[in-house]
Amino acid sequence: MAESAQEPVIRIEGLRKSFGSHEVLKNIDFEIMPGEVVTIIGASGSGKSTLLRCLNLLETPDAGHVWFRGEDLAAQHVNVNRLREKIGMVFQGFNLFNNMNVLDNCTLAPVTLKKASKAEAEAEAMRHLEAVGLAEFAKASVTSLSGGQKQRVAIARALCMKPDLMLFDEPTSALDPEIVGEVLSVMRNLADEGMTMAVVTHEMDFAKNVSDKVVFMDQGVIAEMGEPNRLFTNPEHPRTREFLSRYLEDTQGASATA
Ligand SMILES: Nc1ncnc2c1ncn2[C@@H]1O[C@H](COP(=O)(O)OP(=O)(O)OP(=O)(O)O)[C@@H](O)[C@H]1O
Ligand SMILES: [Mg+2]
Repeated sequence: MAESAQEPVIRIEGLRKSFGSHEVLKNIDFEIMPGEVVTIIGASGSGKSTLLRCLNLLETPDAGHVWFRGEDLAAQHVNVNRLREKIGMVFQGFNLFNNMNVLDNCTLAPVTLKKASKAEAEAEAMRHLEAVGLAEFAKASVTSLSGGQKQRVAIARALCMKPDLMLFDEPTSALDPEIVGEVLSVMRNLADEGMTMAVVTHEMDFAKNVSDKVVFMDQGVIAEMGEPNRLFTNPEHPRTREFLSRYLEDTQGASATA
């Protein structure tokens, strides 16, 4: 229905989070619409990971609301496990089970949590492994894979749960520069297929070229948020300008010497 298509996947209002006396998130408001790719950028310690972790209740907000598909996650009756089945998360450190092969990593949650049959779960897993270019590694041990391959398995594994939303927290930061591209390309394909995504990243080209909306965080607030072309070419906030200056100088330098 057209009406439900307009409902945000996630809506946040007045979100606050402190650790001790340190207020890490100060009154955050934003929403992610179906199919939208939102990138979250900002300096180290600005609260990006904490914000992402509040979206699937890995952190409990101190105040404010997080609605997931219209359901208020602050409500007492929310089943956190069911919620996490609908929200896939990919971290910097892969978090795969090293004692299992690639395929078993992908089928574990669908079989144990969703009660899928082994055959059904394996067929689904093979589809996702195919899509990330790793079908031939299905029976390989996770420990034999490169960092880029592990991260692609982590993405395939998350997709096996058929999530409504995918969260990525610096998925390429632990990778050698030459393999960052293979993971970003998988993420770009996912975006092209219409997956709703929130991505914390330092990959400014990805933020600029793939996202629909960029959120710039500074010391616990959203200092600026907007359409990537505008934000990258004409940042309004002095802190955004400062943060992006190195990237902008690099890209302008590159085009000047091209
Ligand atoms: N569990 C915790 N206990 C105490 N302080 C925390 C905790 N998690 C985060 N913080 C603090 O909250 C602030 C924001 O952290 P957060 O990890 O959200 O930043 P970030 O923007 O993701 O940074 P980075 O780019 O380095 O990953 C930091 O000062 C951090 O030290
Ligand atoms: Mg972080």
